[in-house]
Amino acid sequence: MISIRQIHPVFAGEVSGADLTKPFGAAEVAAIEAGMDRCAVLVFRDQRITDDQQMAFTQNFGAIENAKGGNITKDDQYRLKQGMVDVSNLDKEGKPFERDDRRRIFNLGNRLWHSDSSFRAIPAKYSILSARSVASPGGNTEFADMRAAYDTLDDGTRATIEDLVCEHSLMYSRGSMGFTELTDAERAMMKPVRQRLVRTHPVTGRKSLYLSSHAGNIVGWLVPESRDFLRDLNEHATQRELVYTHRWRQFDLVIWDNRQTMHRVRRFDETQPRDMRRTTVAGEAMTAAQAEAA
Ligand code: OGA
Ligand code: MN
Repeated sequence: MISIRQIHPVFAGEVSGADLTKPFGAAEVAAIEAGMDRCAVLVFRDQRITDDQQMAFTQNFGAIENAKGGNITKDDQYRLKQGMVDVSNLDKEGKPFERDDRRRIFNLGNRLWHSDSSFRAIPAKYSILSARSVASPGGNTEFADMRAAYDTLDDGTRATIEDLVCEHSLMYSRGSMGFTELTDAERAMMKPVRQRLVRTHPVTGRKSLYLSSHAGNIVGWLVPESRDFLRDLNEHATQRELVYTHRWRQFDLVIWDNRQTMHRVRRFDETQPRDMRRTTVAGEAMTAAQAEAA
C-alpha cells in the first residue's frame, strides 16, 4: 500500500510502500499522480533500480521526453542509453570531468533555479532523478513551490502577469553565467521558445508562476525591464519558506512536477563522482503559441 507523508510545511511528500523494481498497477500509478498533484515533489528512499526499471516506472506517467537539444554532449560521448538523461559529473569512462571540460561548465547551469525543458516548445511534465552515488557534503537539490509563489503575489502583480509570455532558451541561462561560446549548430539548437508566465494545472486548476533561468525576456517588454521584473519574481518565488531542500542518500529517487516547481543543485566536491540519472516525462501541450519562424 502506497502512503504519502508531507515533509515540508508547503509541499513535498515522502512515499512509503513503493518498490520501483516491480511494475506498478493502475491503483499505484493513480496514487502517485494524486500525490504529485498535491505535493508537486515526491521522495522515494532506498530504490536500487536499474536504468530499465527507471524508464519503465517513468512510462507510467507518459512518454519519455526526447533528450535531444538539451545539452552540448556529443552523441559519441554519451555515457547512458537513450531515454536516460545524464546529470552526473562523469565522462563516458565514469571519471569526474576535468575542471575545464566544456560539459562540466555547461552543467553548472543546473545551479540556477530552473524548470526542466522550459526551453522546449512543449516543456516537460515530470522529472525523475535517481541517485546512484552521492557526493557529500553538498550537492543538495532545492525545490521551490511555484503555486505558493503565485498565491503569495499581491493582486497588482497577479493582474500584470496574467497574460504575459516569456522567451526561454538555454542561451539565456548559460549566457547569464558567462558561458557564451557556442557553435552555430548549438545556437540553432537553442532557438528561443515562448511560454506563458502563469500556468494553470490541467488537473487541479491551480495557477503557478512559470519561471526558469532559461527565461530571458518578456514578449513586448524591453530586455532590461524584463530581466528586472523576472529577477524580482524569482526572488519572491525562492524565499526560504517556499523551498524544500533535498539531502541525497544513495538510491533516493525524487520526482518533481516541472509545471509547478523550480529546482537547482548546490555546490559539491566535483572531484568525487556524483552519479545522478534522470528520466523525463514529456509534457502534453504548449503553454503559448510560438512565434513565426524567422
Ligand atoms: C536535473 C537537475 C539537479 C541535481 O536533473 O534536472 O537539475 O541535483 N539536477 O543534479
Ligand atoms: Mn534540472
